[in-house]
Amino acid sequence: MIPVCRLEDLPAGESVRLDTTPPVAVFNADGALYAVDDTCSHQDASLSEGWLEGCLVECPLHAASFDLRTGEPTCLPARRAVRTHRVSVVDGTIHVHLTDPAATPVPAAAPLPASAPLAAAASLSAASLAASAPASLAASGPGRGSLTGEGSAA
Ligand code: FES
Repeated sequence: MIPVCRLEDLPAGESVRLDTTPPVAVFNADGALYAVDDTCSHQDASLSEGWLEGCLVECPLHAASFDLRTGEPTCLPARRAVRTHRVSVVDGTIHVHLTDPAATPVPAAAPLPASAPLAAAASLSAASLAASAPASLAASGPGRGSLTGEGSAA
């Protein structure tokens, strides 16, 4: 469990990069926290420097987009998912629980037709959604008890 920052230091629409191995990007997407590997699966770009819209982040280099809930790309040129990591908030501090790289390799996505964008929702499974559920901020606040985002955000 890696401490990231105080909850109030990561407002909605913002991101932060952790210098872990591999680097991890943590996002506050309209009040839901997500963490994914920071390096784009297409080439070497930092997703924490990308543009956040809802729970999608657009890579700043070639504009591939990733669903932060699953790590799956939603459009070309990225074809492979980025790994997701669990996030929790404990006593007002955001923590990331790194996914073991050996236990869960980044799945290779099926090749995408060049003319059609990927519909990310069609590829979501119930298990992948549960495993990557965000830490909800609705029931927490700085300095108030603890909340974990262990798949029970709803
Ligand atoms: S490096 Fe991210 S889309 Fe190319």
